[in-house]
Amino acid sequence: MGNDKDSITVIDNRNGRQIELPIRKAAQGPDAVDIGRFFHELGYFTYDPGFLSTASCHSALTYLDGTQGMLQYRGYPIEQLAEHSNFLEVAHLMLYGELPSREELDKFSGIITHHSMLNEALKGFFRGFYHDAHPMAIMVGVVGSLSAFYHDSTDISNPRHREIAAHRMIAKMPSIAAASYKHSVGEPQVYPDNSLSYTGNLLNMMFAVPCETYEIDPVAEKALDLIFILHIDHEQNASTSTVRLAGSSGANPFACIASGIAALWGPAHGGANEAVLNMLDQIGDVKNIPAFLDRAKDRHDPFRLMGFGHRVYKNYDPRARIIRQMCHDVLARLGDASDPMFELALRLEEIALNDDYFIQRKLYPNVDFYSGLIYKALGIPTNMFTVMFAIARTVGWVAQWMEMIGEHDQRIGRPRQLYVGHRQRDYVPIEQRG
Ligand code: SDX
Repeated sequence: MGNDKDSITVIDNRNGRQIELPIRKAAQGPDAVDIGRFFHELGYFTYDPGFLSTASCHSALTYLDGTQGMLQYRGYPIEQLAEHSNFLEVAHLMLYGELPSREELDKFSGIITHHSMLNEALKGFFRGFYHDAHPMAIMVGVVGSLSAFYHDSTDISNPRHREIAAHRMIAKMPSIAAASYKHSVGEPQVYPDNSLSYTGNLLNMMFAVPCETYEIDPVAEKALDLIFILHIDHEQNASTSTVRLAGSSGANPFACIASGIAALWGPAHGGANEAVLNMLDQIGDVKNIPAFLDRAKDRHDPFRLMGFGHRVYKNYDPRARIIRQMCHDVLARLGDASDPMFELALRLEEIALNDDYFIQRKLYPNVDFYSGLIYKALGIPTNMFTVMFAIARTVGWVAQWMEMIGEHDQRIGRPRQLYVGHRQRDYVPIEQRG
């Protein structure tokens, strides 16, 4: 056995067997030990529930450093993209790997704009839901049904089909989101307006009514575009991993995105932005913060401080830092700077960040802690917050799906398990059971 510097040696102390496992070098961040031969050569599975130390794939899309609180899309720091770019330009970056030229961006924006209409037959689908259906339930159902309409872009072996499906998903999510919202408020659906920006169109489809002209607030349009940039992708989070696993079986892209929407909905993941507002509403006043922090620290109490903590970030989530600053600007410019909910959030953050329990566990505000406050200031109802997250994350999901499907050695994902159930036993006829 050589002592190759690009491998690790594993010795089984039960029988002295020894194997060398190659180390795969990262472009930045931790390298990875390739354990593909582990079971075949040593007869053991590796065990990592929650995937705390497991890289499920290689990817060139997003890099994050949880210790430094760093996030980069295709190598560009999120802070620079937030300051200088826009959602569709970053979407192009994620899909094609490079920032577009002016001509490329105009062409890409035009393609997305002209895919934003929904098949008219889908209107009946929305009407099939009760008015009080959660918009995420509608979105999961409608997105999952899209393959029933678009047979011309579901051959995943065809790169052109994959690209068209990606364009369609990015383009139609705002239309589906707005239609879900309109159904919940009993108002007529508003068609996309090709003269508007991506976020201007979303605001118009959500809030315009036939009886009067709707003026799109440029502050809201820009704030939504920025928040969407921050939510585009985030490495192999739960919903992205769900999309990749669904895609690994060869499922059509619309079904894969629907699986991602379902995973995102959980309050531990994308559903946290809605849960944060509900939590702040529950806390109600600064004087109640200590009691809620005590509950958050109590292992026997399922209450968690929503919008705090992260599997990877053990520092301030860089997206939360940007959104926090945006809160100040947006609330001030929308004339709601004194929003008591925002003041309460700032005090909660201040008290939590000085509490030993949170300091020791490196629990900081994450992207969901402040985003809901901006959505609320933009007039977006709480049950639409995760829908907003899903619109933006669709870019990351389709980019990750395209990256995976495009690999020549792509295989179905099929984790194993540590079996802890009964050993083999014989059937007992019911007459002989106790
Ligand atoms: C998103 O993965 C991603 O990248 C997700 C995301 C993305 O862009 O895709 O960033 C978006 O989902 C952000 C996270 C939104 N969720 C929330 O805000 C829900 C509240 N947060 C927690 O549920 C929790 O922090 C998680 C789910 C986010 C992370 O769960 P982990 O990794 O299991 O938590 P951990 O291992 O870091 O916890 C360490 C300790 C534990 O206590 P001990 O066992 O050490 O005593 O901290 C505790 C946890 O119980 N803890 C919390 C807490 N989060 C962790 N205690 C109180 N309140 C919290 N919010």
